[in-house]
Amino acid sequence: TPFTNMFRRPPVLMPYEEGTDDQGPFQKYRLTQKFGQASLVPGLTTTIAGYNGIFPGPTIRVPRGTRSEVRIKNSLTVNKINGQPFSTVTHLHGSASLPQYDGYANDHTHPGQCKTYKYPNWQPARTLWYHDHNHRTTAANAYSGLAAQYHLTDAYEAAQLPQGQYDVPIVVSDIAFKADGSVAFDDEDHAGFMGDVIMVNGVPWPKMRVKPRVYRFRFLVSSISRSYRFRLSTGDPFHVVGTDGGMVPKVAAVESFRQGAAERYEVLIDFRKYKVGQKIELRNLSNKNNEDFKNTDKVMQFEVVADSGAPDTYVIPTTLDAGPVPWADRGALDVMKLKPEMAVARRTVRVERKHGLWTVNGETWDDVEKSDFKRVLGNPKPYDVEIWDLVNESGGWFHPVHIHLIDGQLLSRNNTSGNKPFAWENGPKDVFYLGENETASVLMQFTTGDGNDGGRYMLHCHNLVHEDSDMMIQFAVGDMMN
Ligand code: C2O
Ligand code: CU
Repeated sequence: TPFTNMFRRPPVLMPYEEGTDDQGPFQKYRLTQKFGQASLVPGLTTTIAGYNGIFPGPTIRVPRGTRSEVRIKNSLTVNKINGQPFSTVTHLHGSASLPQYDGYANDHTHPGQCKTYKYPNWQPARTLWYHDHNHRTTAANAYSGLAAQYHLTDAYEAAQLPQGQYDVPIVVSDIAFKADGSVAFDDEDHAGFMGDVIMVNGVPWPKMRVKPRVYRFRFLVSSISRSYRFRLSTGDPFHVVGTDGGMVPKVAAVESFRQGAAERYEVLIDFRKYKVGQKIELRNLSNKNNEDFKNTDKVMQFEVVADSGAPDTYVIPTTLDAGPVPWADRGALDVMKLKPEMAVARRTVRVERKHGLWTVNGETWDDVEKSDFKRVLGNPKPYDVEIWDLVNESGGWFHPVHIHLIDGQLLSRNNTSGNKPFAWENGPKDVFYLGENETASVLMQFTTGDGNDGGRYMLHCHNLVHEDSDMMIQFAVGDMMN
């Protein structure tokens, strides 16, 4: 029953060691991928596989400029969903990581093994997430529970946006159950998975008590395939303050916004105008090519409770300052200040169903594997600026396309919305939702950062069922053999 379970926040992971060495400040973390039990269906328990055995996994919060190391042990055995050995590889989505720590799909950590990932964290503050990326089992692995948020914080974000208990992670996913409470997974012959239960932070349709204040919600859709169009039951606005790659230059007030798998939107909701006791629902208006069930139009409920503290005098900003650009000395620019004339190349990235396969420019990850991982879409130099036109003409499906490493600025949507990006998309992005017959033109710079001479990075559909079968290719920056 919707709105009976209490909302909860994932725990924040504490570093086991932190300090400063000759390269500056660092933090070290440990995680174990293991099975855990969750109570999701009344009276039954469900086995999940999560980071530290929970879903979502613990949130990692790192200040900008502090390097982090995350040692991940794989204590899993077999994934019951597909009967395969539970090999994993972790990707920190939204991080300009070195290629060897970017979760390359064929860089498997097998059950019993560990890997230590190193992250540079020089980027502007943003909501990232870490999730599994093991090729051909990414959907089953992530669906089992291997997903969590990671926050990069900085002084600019802290000075302008709500903090602490008013800064709330929202991980939205869908799930289906068998009669015994175990998870059910049917990818509809590689089309996608559509569950009938909507969860927020791993709780089906929770209800959250909120004070009459302004809250910042970090929305992440970790669904395997489903996309959402969020709306409040009151019709009141969401103030969009952040996109995948951090704060937006201009805050947009929208009555609803569309969000596909892996996209992040940070929005403010102003609860000050409501009366104590008032209930406000977060709803989901369906998007084209999703499958709806009885309660998939509901997401969660807010209930306003009395606040004993002083009234909240926060003023919702109209513009935001994301702070200085890293590597400006090497020619890096603020992604939202890039101009189309700076581009040295323009490429087309066409996503389509061909001969029964999901392809990108007619190719698949299988072609990349057969080329001994040498086949690339292109080989820009570090700090080059390019325009990529992402095209979905196939019809009948939508594809949230993710480009690793970069933050991009959406220049236009040629086939929809009068050429302009949607109001909520005007910020740094790394996932571009391509609805049926939509095209997105993306301006990006291949900023690698110090100590990164480049290497191979993936580009794929973030409908993880499509990604697994085989809608993924790669590009290389600089020295491609890294
Ligand atoms: Cu969130 Cu390549 O993935
Ligand atoms: Cu797709």
